[in-house]
Amino acid sequence: MSLANRDLITTDDLSNQEIEAVFALADEMSGSMKEQSNLCQGKIMASLFFEPSTRTRLSFETAMHRLGGGVISVVEMENTSLAKGESIADMARVVGSYADIIVIRHPWEGAAKVVANYADVPVINAGDGGHEHPTQTLCDLYTLKKERRTLEGLKIALWGDLKYGRTVHSLAYALAKFGANIHFRPSPGLEMPKHVIRKLTTEYAGILEKYGNLKEGGEEGLFPLDAIYITPSGPHQLANIPSVGIQIELEKGVDALYVTRLQKERLEPAAEGKESEKSYPVVDKKLLKEKGFRETIVMHPLPRVDELAYEIDADPRSMYFKQAARGVPIRMALIALLLGAKEVDIPQGKGMAFTQKRDYPVYKRDTGVRCLNKNCVSKQETETRYIKPVFQIVANDPLTLRCIYCEHEIHPQYIASSKWHQGIVEKKRYYSANSFMLGRIQPENLIIFGSEDEALARGFKPGKRAF
Ligand code: NCD
Repeated sequence: MSLANRDLITTDDLSNQEIEAVFALADEMSGSMKEQSNLCQGKIMASLFFEPSTRTRLSFETAMHRLGGGVISVVEMENTSLAKGESIADMARVVGSYADIIVIRHPWEGAAKVVANYADVPVINAGDGGHEHPTQTLCDLYTLKKERRTLEGLKIALWGDLKYGRTVHSLAYALAKFGANIHFRPSPGLEMPKHVIRKLTTEYAGILEKYGNLKEGGEEGLFPLDAIYITPSGPHQLANIPSVGIQIELEKGVDALYVTRLQKERLEPAAEGKESEKSYPVVDKKLLKEKGFRETIVMHPLPRVDELAYEIDADPRSMYFKQAARGVPIRMALIALLLGAKEVDIPQGKGMAFTQKRDYPVYKRDTGVRCLNKNCVSKQETETRYIKPVFQIVANDPLTLRCIYCEHEIHPQYIASSKWHQGIVEKKRYYSANSFMLGRIQPENLIIFGSEDEALARGFKPGKRAF
């Protein structure tokens, strides 16, 4: 089977079998580096990095060189026409006409998706703001598989900045997809975003358990956290047990600790120096001596700052430098597959039990509903010229729209139906989105207003019964 011309924007763009195929090819390539040196001869990779990067950019570029291909690169926005006000769509069209594959890192969430929409060549997301970083996840999963053989049933703790860390978002989806259980140990105020939790519990077989921070006897536990249990066939056995359950569960042993640094560059200016920074959890020798961590491998996408003590570098459980080194064969395999230089055998029909794809209704009327995430690509001045807001309606109680670019959620308050008034002005009524009227309107007829003023400006009057 061929993966030629596919994009990799989110973890979900690859099935479990395709991910396994990337790993198999990475294994094969790392055992025969020299033999790969003509595989992508004559091909060019554009490496567009509009945010700092060491590992991701250099491992992608190394990978392409090792495959015999050429690399053109940009490392600062200031040096491109984006600084002159060019849109990323125009840049994508042009770069796509020079290169055979594009790798992009950008601070705006959803930017890689826009590039993929406009470039005629495969596009790889090397990190889009705080949204996703799927190729880091490939390196992480590859490491987990190498160290623990299987992913199903593993207990993985995600540690640190779960709010802005894009690597943990992509990784959480992938772990869920492969049936691993996820424990969250965020720094206070940097919890996993609600939209990520929603996806884990609706599109994957995840069940969220909320736990307290007390061990039996009232002593403070290690993990003041929640957990997602992946259960394809019914509730996890720990469901509904009291909050001490997680501490007991953790003492039985965690398979991996995935540590992340505080994403300082993404913090709201007011949040800097606050609680999240002061009480950021640290992994050190002492922690690894705890009962639950004796067999635990320690992972980190790097760069580290203070959250990972240098004293554990020599510990055989520390995996972060191996993780980074594995970036080259993984990215070689991925580039070769997306360029069609390699094909793979993909066993059909196995391994999808942990995902349950939803076909959510799409909302694309321009009625003043906007994404509220200021880092979303759809909110940027240069991009609003051509990007129209588009949302998935992911829940009705309360009405919840998911931006298709950055995946942040909004809860608009006013609705109407396009069907009922049939163009008759007197019949144009709007209602509260929290009223029973929402259930009466078919998704294809639903009009959602960004504000009450928007509804009034469009000639709708308040409906009598539904406020
Ligand atoms: C990560 C990133 O850029 O998101 N780094 C990486 O790609 N290895 C993690 C980080 O910057 O903290």
